[in-house]
Amino acid sequence: MSYVNMKSILTDARKNRYAVGAFNIVNYLTAKAAVEGAEELNQNIILQTSVKTVKAFGVIEMMSWLKPIVEEAKVKVAIHLDHSTDVAFTKTCIDAGWSSVMYDGSKLPLLENIANTKEIVAYAQKFDVTVEGELGAIVGVEDDIYVKEGEGAHARLEDCKVFLSETKVDAFAPAIGTAHGVYKGEINLDYDLFETINSNSPCPLVLHGGTGLTDGMFYRLIDLGAAKVNISTAVKIAYCQGMKDYMEQNPKQNNPLKLDAYVKEQVKKMVQEHIRFFSLSDRKRPNYEVDLHCHTTRSDGSDTPKELIDKASSLGMCVIAMTDHDVLPADKIEVNGIMVDMTAYAKTKGVKVLPGIEFSCETQAEDVHLVVLGCDYSDDKIREMNKKIVESKIHTYRELTEVLTKKGFPITWDEVLNYGGIPRKSEDVQKKIIFNLMAEKGYVETWSDGKLLCRNNPEYSVKRQKPKAVDIIKLAHETGGICILAHPYLIDETIKIDEKKISRDEFIESLIEAGLDGIEASYTYDKTTYHGKLTKNEIIEKIKEMYTDKVAIISGGSDYHADYKKTSKNIREVGECGISYDYFKNNACLSAIAK
Ligand code: 13P
Repeated sequence: MSYVNMKSILTDARKNRYAVGAFNIVNYLTAKAAVEGAEELNQNIILQTSVKTVKAFGVIEMMSWLKPIVEEAKVKVAIHLDHSTDVAFTKTCIDAGWSSVMYDGSKLPLLENIANTKEIVAYAQKFDVTVEGELGAIVGVEDDIYVKEGEGAHARLEDCKVFLSETKVDAFAPAIGTAHGVYKGEINLDYDLFETINSNSPCPLVLHGGTGLTDGMFYRLIDLGAAKVNISTAVKIAYCQGMKDYMEQNPKQNNPLKLDAYVKEQVKKMVQEHIRFFSLSDRKRPNYEVDLHCHTTRSDGSDTPKELIDKASSLGMCVIAMTDHDVLPADKIEVNGIMVDMTAYAKTKGVKVLPGIEFSCETQAEDVHLVVLGCDYSDDKIREMNKKIVESKIHTYRELTEVLTKKGFPITWDEVLNYGGIPRKSEDVQKKIIFNLMAEKGYVETWSDGKLLCRNNPEYSVKRQKPKAVDIIKLAHETGGICILAHPYLIDETIKIDEKKISRDEFIESLIEAGLDGIEASYTYDKTTYHGKLTKNEIIEKIKEMYTDKVAIISGGSDYHADYKKTSKNIREVGECGISYDYFKNNACLSAIAK
């Protein structure tokens, strides 16, 4: 049967972590467009009716034309009364055939809201009708309910627990910062609250104010438990703009059927865009929701910090660490010409950003990289270390271009400073720019071949004075942060430390003794200079086996550089490697620095 109550649709959505679109239809045309849109995509749908719309048609009359559309549908459809603040009217709609109702007592004191909702639940149960309840205040106008900007209140967890256990509603809409209507300013959603409420809720959660949220916001909220998403304003816009567009394009026509057909198509298109999104049928999910190793234009990456955050958000990432090489992390970034706080910007996009640094360590070894996170980057000790590193980099990278030029691979310092058409200061030069130039000039095929050429031929190798790994571990701890060994399998099996040859395993043991907090297990070995025989997964298993009991964090990261902007080979993607959000949340060390 196609006409169902909301529970039968939402239970599956919650279980399989997708959402169902609930569209506030305004007449026969919009209802038909929405159902046809859902049928074509073979997805269930909820037709919502605002109280004002129902009153405009009359309860009985509205159901008389709505029900046949739904009963003939090829997918499951619920007819849901949206934001009813009147107990008697809600019951009238139940009597008239609505399969689902929302009783909105959110403006009432908690106990009154609970009492009224309970009354509706008891009544609805007799007719197998499902009930949605709400707590908190959603800004904007929906029907006759008007909440002024600044007066929106997030639902309180303790109230939610009481409300849910007392009322036993079938779906629950907690206010977390979304708004009805068109968003005017910055959107500030409380994802943590939504997630906590979801984990305390026996029933599926509903997201109100869907019009205007970004892809990333939807992804995050669906991942965190939104099983129903309400879309009203976008229906009105598609309907009215459709009419306007048609009349502007055909000013002399007075053909209502053609006008209706055009408008219906516009509404259907909008409904389908949302359904595709909510059902996640087009969604490319990252392998991991947390990526603790990413680069930007602040070192050798090709995305600006804003682009990286936007990308992470569009993929539905929960956490990224910005770990540019040997530079202090940014606290402010440029967004539309204005400098804004980086973590606050990321928060508006649904992503938590951890500022960090990837330090290159050990003068006589390659690829000993330590990722530090959560440090106080204004601390003099870390600033002093940074200054020393910058000086040594300028000196040796300049020397490397001179050596390469002498050996028949001409590269000038000016080319390095203006690489990619972006002028940079000497202190911002990264070694990878030189390898990129080698590849672009045709001296080698890829940047990693350039890296290997310099690394494996003593005549090209110019050694930079790098800090000792144990000193970076100490520095991270002294400045309130943690330290993770990046890509351990890029380090040679035998390395020279303080003129002594030791094995990679011995070296790692010495770092653990010095207080190393974590080690990267999930990493894009298949796309870098790793030439060992183990697969990515074998390395993950091996590292877990060897180090789970010895370090606090088995970490992961993609070493994302936005490679796609420069090459079509070995492109690394945000979230390709990393750790799960559950691991992140439950790891004491990571959650301490995330605060
Ligand atoms: P929008 O108008 O922002 O899409 O909100 C819809 C809604 O939540 C209806 O209850």
